[in-house]
Amino acid sequence: MMKKFVLYFFVAVIGWSLVSCCNSSTTDTPVCPIKRGADSISVEPSRPAGQSDVIGLRCDPIPTVRVAFIGLGMRGPGAVSRFMHIEGIEVKAICDLEQYNIDKVQEMLKKDSRPEASVYTGEEDWKKVCERDDIDLVYVCTPWFLHTPMAVYAMEHGKHVAVEVPIARTMDECWQLVNTAEKTRRHCIQLENCCYDFFEMATLNMAQKGLFGEVVHVEGAYIHDLRSLNFNPRLNERESYEPGIGDTKSKRPGLTGYWNYWRLTENTDNNGNIYPTHGLGPVCQVLNIHRGDRMERLVSLSSDQFNMSAYAKTKFGDDSPEAGKEYREGDMNTTLVKTAKGKSILIQHDVASPRPYSRIHMISGTKGFAQKWPAQQLAFDPEAHSALSREDMEKKLKEYEHPITREVGELARKVGGHGGMDFIMDYRLVYCLRNGLPLDMDVYDAAEWSCITPLSEFSVAHGSVPVKVPDFTRGAWQKIQGFQHAFK
Ligand SMILES: NC(=O)c1ccc[n+]([C@@H]2O[C@H](COP(=O)([O-])OP(=O)(O)OC[C@H]3O[C@@H](n4cnc5c(N)ncnc54)[C@H](O)[C@@H]3O)[C@@H](O)[C@H]2O)c1
Repeated sequence: MMKKFVLYFFVAVIGWSLVSCCNSSTTDTPVCPIKRGADSISVEPSRPAGQSDVIGLRCDPIPTVRVAFIGLGMRGPGAVSRFMHIEGIEVKAICDLEQYNIDKVQEMLKKDSRPEASVYTGEEDWKKVCERDDIDLVYVCTPWFLHTPMAVYAMEHGKHVAVEVPIARTMDECWQLVNTAEKTRRHCIQLENCCYDFFEMATLNMAQKGLFGEVVHVEGAYIHDLRSLNFNPRLNERESYEPGIGDTKSKRPGLTGYWNYWRLTENTDNNGNIYPTHGLGPVCQVLNIHRGDRMERLVSLSSDQFNMSAYAKTKFGDDSPEAGKEYREGDMNTTLVKTAKGKSILIQHDVASPRPYSRIHMISGTKGFAQKWPAQQLAFDPEAHSALSREDMEKKLKEYEHPITREVGELARKVGGHGGMDFIMDYRLVYCLRNGLPLDMDVYDAAEWSCITPLSEFSVAHGSVPVKVPDFTRGAWQKIQGFQHAFK
């Protein structure tokens, strides 16, 4: 029933898209912020001479991983704190624009009896961090628009780089990352923590052991009511620390609007799936994307925007500038992807509606089914019309617990970070670097998962027209058959 519905929806959207394409009033008035035309958005630039792919890239083992953290706002300090629980690391440098954030992290290091890290606070100081010759890994937790420039610069200066999601927001940025990783032979990982959650890992294990048969359709989402966060000028929260520190008007003229409301600005300027990776990452691993299959094309549709305006009116008043602002991101974006091997992916984004959190995480195959939200369910042929009882599901999840969560799950739950998944991600990153192994997520994952943003924006802006997803591996997507975590 579900499969039928999705199929009809997919067919309807494509049909409607094609009709819209022929309607000149739609195509004459594109509102997509992407400056490129339909012909070039999905272009695969040929690989520069002397460069080869980095599928399964192995680098020299690094017995002690020397790390620099850039961006210590809401997310960054948690990463430093998690690293304190991982063997074989040294925190060499920390970089943020706010002394308050630096002090917090130095305090954390001190509490753990670690040496002070070198401090960088200037706007462009992150370049100096990347230029140092005593750092192996640059870990980036800054606002989105700095992700790709920082990653590229770090790799160009011989560093491995780990970057928060989304690592890229335009097609050009995606290709910059791929080309730089291929040229420099450095690891470039997008920190998609949701790939390491317990249910996701267990169902990946089940998929790899054939419990779902051939996986035909998957779904993922980022549905998270972020209205209060998006309207929260984070830096202003810190006024209590030092009078005026949150007053970015005086501290950093010209940047005020963006720095106070960078999340909001992302929502204001774009309309598509602007944060696709949390839902997409885990299901792409299930589908072996660029490890035997690849995303070929997508269509995307956004609802209109209702909730941001309504929230702004309630919070700031009917006549406030916030209420009068244009919020371009539709409340709900739905994107459908078809793969080369005939599989389908549904991916949604909604951070403006009052509704419970969900990443969906649904897997539907020829022999079984799994879903995490709104309720955890497992179902297997021939009794798949009803899900396993809670007790049987728990038994199955235990039986198929992923070897990685089996090994570090208990510690991860204690250390925390979204219930432990953040720790498992960092643990795996350091483990692979220390042992010279390919990382769990490579630069092609980073580009494939992030490119959904510009491609969905383009599709939405052009009447949900089908858009080709480029092959970032440039022909190497079948080199490895099946997603796998590397072990020594
Ligand atoms: N994976 C997850 O579950 C998860 C959760 C939260 C946030 N995030 C991501 O983490 C990133 C950071 O989010 P956040 O909530 O911490 O944002 P934030 O605004 O709280 O922090 C960003 C920090 O970057 C610093 N910064 C800005 N420009 C800088 C520069 N030029 N040099 C050095 N530092 C600079 C700012 O001073 C600020 O402290 C975002 O990409 C976000 O999407 C991911």
